Amino acid sequence: MKYKRANVNIAILKYWGKVNNLINLPYQTSISVTADNFYTLTNIELDPKANKDIVILDGKALSGISFTRVSHHLDALRKHFKRKEYCIVNSINRVFIKAGYASSASGFAALTAAYVDAIGAKVSKKELSQLARLGSGSATRSIHGGFVIWHRGKNHETSFAEKLPVKWPEFRMLFTIVDPSVKKISSRVGMQITIEKAKSYADYVKQSNESVEPLIEALKNNDIDATGRIAERAAELMRNVMLEAGLEYHTPTTQQLIQKVKAIRSKHKIPVYYTFDAGPNLILFTLEEYVNEVIRLLPEVEISVSGVGGGITNANS
Ligand code: DP6
Repeated sequence: MKYKRANVNIAILKYWGKVNNLINLPYQTSISVTADNFYTLTNIELDPKANKDIVILDGKALSGISFTRVSHHLDALRKHFKRKEYCIVNSINRVFIKAGYASSASGFAALTAAYVDAIGAKVSKKELSQLARLGSGSATRSIHGGFVIWHRGKNHETSFAEKLPVKWPEFRMLFTIVDPSVKKISSRVGMQITIEKAKSYADYVKQSNESVEPLIEALKNNDIDATGRIAERAAELMRNVMLEAGLEYHTPTTQQLIQKVKAIRSKHKIPVYYTFDAGPNLILFTLEEYVNEVIRLLPEVEISVSGVGGGITNANS
């Protein structure tokens, strides 16, 4: 079968909040790195005779809310391209779903690219990123490889992702598995609660957006310390507003691991930094030459190493 492959991306500067829920218009400009080890493969066939979509993920037909989310996104794409046919969607997730890395980013990016392919439309990567955003905010960034900026924009037209002019092949992500349970409150719901309840949310947005230029500079300079410092601050600022809103995604193990990462940095002089999303796992940023040493110093944690991955591609299976 012919698939579209989209890789997972990890935000170095986070997206956490929507100005507009219908089109996933964010408050923050975010910057991510695309990973090369976790991805989704999706094939779509149009079925002109069907009266609803069929979505098969890892060999099982989806139902309930997971199905509805996919089908809603297909509705948005049908509306955009003025098409009527329902779809048979076949997806394979090579993502640690059980480890809390269930990624709507790779899923909705692959879904969007596969739909565009199925109808034979020709769209630019910019347009593809705008369309992927309608399914999931972070999917906007998974259209591109390397280091990617998602401009928050003011409307559908101006909110899109593009690749940053950064070459940094030595950059590595270490996906840790702190807690293999599925996250309890989705990002979607968590963001909404945060906006409603966190008093310093407006300050957070301001601080986050102020990090855009320094982060671009750090990435262009391949400066792991500056990149790491901005990444940790961005994650902690996000966590502060989550906590203000009563949302705790970390476990005690997450916090212990953060202390260990800091200790590795100070005692062993290894440039290793952490980030996290709406879950208990840490993703560590470091350089290729330090990967083995970091793994050796964290024997108690399961780690999957990832390099910098590419954007949407064709794949066979
Ligand atoms: C914490 O993209 O999953 O990972 O737009 O509602 O699908 P929806 O949310 P989603 O949120 C990701 C939030 C984050 C930070 C980030 O990836 O920027």
